[in-house]
Amino acid sequence: MNEEIRDLRAGFLDKLKEIQSQRELEDLRVAFLGKKGQVTALLKNLGGLSEEAKRSFGREVNDLKREISEQLAMRMESIRQEDLQRELDAVPTFDVSMPPVFRRGSYHPITLVQRQCENVFRSMGFTLEDYSEVVTDYECFESLNIPKFHPARDMQDTYYLDNGQLLKTQTSAAQNAIYRKYGPRLIEKGEPIKAVFPGRCFRNESTDACHENTFFQMEGVMVGRDISISNLIFFMKTMLSEVFRRDIKVRLRPGFFPFVEPGFELDINCLICGGSGCASCKHSGWLELCPCGMIHPNVLREGGIDPEQYTGFAFGLGLTRLAMMKYGIADLRDFNSGLLNRLDQFTGEN
Ligand code: DAH
Repeated sequence: MNEEIRDLRAGFLDKLKEIQSQRELEDLRVAFLGKKGQVTALLKNLGGLSEEAKRSFGREVNDLKREISEQLAMRMESIRQEDLQRELDAVPTFDVSMPPVFRRGSYHPITLVQRQCENVFRSMGFTLEDYSEVVTDYECFESLNIPKFHPARDMQDTYYLDNGQLLKTQTSAAQNAIYRKYGPRLIEKGEPIKAVFPGRCFRNESTDACHENTFFQMEGVMVGRDISISNLIFFMKTMLSEVFRRDIKVRLRPGFFPFVEPGFELDINCLICGGSGCASCKHSGWLELCPCGMIHPNVLREGGIDPEQYTGFAFGLGLTRLAMMKYGIADLRDFNSGLLNRLDQFTGEN
């Protein structure tokens, strides 16, 4: 065999041993058999040879080409097998007889807080009411002492529907229906109305860490004879202490809402610093949590209840806000993210 050809063959076989991937193998093929490859280059040396020598050199080059092609094909096949085996090894073994192991989801933090509040109020004798999300102007505003064109409507940027109804901006929209439903029992049997009604509310807000166009509230009312602000404070304090599992201090500040008189903002002592003042409570020691008040006589009258004989309190608890406080959630948008990893970091797998 021609010496040059022998060296080239040996060089090829050495390199072939080092090849680990299909890509390396392709590079090797090009280096030897490609247009500018080493085997092709051999043929350029035919110039000075006799006819006989040319023929035998050409035959040996062709033999080398065939051998290299065969070697490349064999190595390609073995690399494919190795790749396949590697892929198979990476697949976890699957035992059909094993019981399934699912990653359990968790309840949404707002659902958890809502249920806790519902349970506490139910244990204190409140009924739980459901109400629709699409309501009339009368339910959401007029029955609540907010007549058409009243400036108080500007506080809530409302989504109106083509049919004249609207997406409820506040759970207070159910108040009138509750008075109509339970009022007769109050009047005939003297049973106070005690109801809570959670729900989803909608307002045209631009979204940021503290604002969403969709949020959850829980409204509560109690109406009877001699119901006063002390009753309101008692129920709120009890409920919040249960939800936060510690004694909660509350205070009332005056606040304006057309459907209550007097109206209040109920604050709780800051849960982060305990009341001494920190960034979360703007160094006041208090967090604003729940607007409330004594139900306005016009609202009771509109619900068929005589305000001369009966009084009551109402509150509108922000469930979204409460869940943020309870689980230390800084960005409201996490609630709607739908990412399980985000949500169950707050609640664990419940
Ligand atoms: N509905 C009010 C709002 O969403 C909150 C509210 C305030 C509810 C005072 C009440 C109340 O029941 O007494 O802005």
